[in-house]
Amino acid sequence: MSNSIPATSARYAICRYPTTLIDIWRNKRGEQFVLRPVLPQDKPLLQEFYSSLSPLSRRMRFHGAVNALSPSTLNYMSDIDYDHHLALVVTFVNEGVEIIVADARYVIDASQRGGEFAIAVSDVWQRRGIAERAMTGLCKAAKLQGLDWLWGDVLMDNGAMLGLMRKAGFYQSAAGEESGMVRVERNLAKATAPVKTHKPGPLGLLAQWLVAGRSYA
Ligand SMILES: CC(C)(COP(=O)(O)OP(=O)(O)OC[C@H]1O[C@@H](n2cnc3c(N)ncnc32)[C@H](O)[C@@H]1OP(=O)(O)O)[C@@H](O)C(=O)NCCC(=O)NCCS
Repeated sequence: MSNSIPATSARYAICRYPTTLIDIWRNKRGEQFVLRPVLPQDKPLLQEFYSSLSPLSRRMRFHGAVNALSPSTLNYMSDIDYDHHLALVVTFVNEGVEIIVADARYVIDASQRGGEFAIAVSDVWQRRGIAERAMTGLCKAAKLQGLDWLWGDVLMDNGAMLGLMRKAGFYQSAAGEESGMVRVERNLAKATAPVKTHKPGPLGLLAQWLVAGRSYA
């Protein structure tokens, strides 16, 4: 991926809407969540979700300070082809109104065998098992797509994410001495696997682009 957001809106087409990834569950508090693939009409909900994240959560997600989503970034995040880019959201319905409480996605990397993933959960909805469930869905999707591994870069001070990764069976290694990141990776066939590369992937490049602009807007 080049260091800019692809202009997706003109050429956008869903390859195949993966209904098999839909997952509905209740947590111990009795709250019901739906994990489902993202649709183009999710743009306003995604905008609201990312705007509602605390500055700390946004820093953890994008590895720097970013503000609101611009229309082109929103297109990139919601016009998903389910071929190169797969995105899932977790939603909750409150008094008939659906809100997004988590976003988890991967983009196939240059090797075509791995996917770089990223995830975020709304601050007020954290520690309710949502990310763990979403990661299970993401791994299932990647396996169904025939990918060999999922990987991501996590800031070294992101204890929550590193804890989640340990629990989800991801292998960890330094992602580069000066980067301040940990590379996490899970081989989808085996429990753990060696790290293949330390270069930033598609989502890493998008995050760098956003942080450089300090804003999506
Ligand atoms: C990291 C993050 C996705 C975790 O989401 P979550 O829904 O709160 O996580 P879960 O409730 O599914 O937690 C699963 C496990 O992860 C670990 N974990 C989650 N939050 C943790 C925390 N704050 N401290 C330590 N471990 C934590 C625990 O092992 C937890 O299992 P447990 O609850 O049985 O102890 C969430 O904190 C977040 O969105 N952070 C901001 C964005 C971000 O950091 N994204 C990652 C960059 S790719």
